[in-house]
Amino acid sequence: MRSTSLLPLISVAFLATAAPAFTAEDKTADPGAQVFQGSCLTCHKGNQSLDQVRLTRDKWKEAVDRMADSGFLDPVPSKEKVNLLLDYLAKEKGPVDPGNASKK
Ligand code: HEC
Repeated sequence: MRSTSLLPLISVAFLATAAPAFTAEDKTADPGAQVFQGSCLTCHKGNQSLDQVRLTRDKWKEAVDRMADSGFLDPVPSKEKVNLLLDYLAKEKGPVDPGNASKK
């Protein structure tokens, strides 16, 4: 029936939207985002995703230090890169405040 004949259309639309989303994240201009991708997303994807994690800059720093201490960061990013990373995390993944929640 009607709903059945729509199925192929829906899958095509899904595939078409999935691809650009990936590319857009890939060529992000923010250098901190690049550190994040290079140093963190190797592990933090799928079940380990940090998408839902919202922390203050200090808490992110603690987490990054813990990752480094655990030997997870190979190589450990330079201080400058960590600062760029923390700027990015604080800006994009800071604590959700209700007035700001619709921003993303
Ligand atoms: C080699 C794999 C690996 C890499 C690379 C890595 N992590 Fe992790 N991360 C883990 C594991 C394993 C845990 C869970 C154990 C723990 O919390 O110490 C974790 C936990 C965390 C947590 C706590 C998660 C939660 O849900 O509360 C945060 C935040 C985090 N990582 C941030 C980072 C950031 C930021 C980076 C990049 C600078 C990073 N991680 C790089 C493996 C990794």
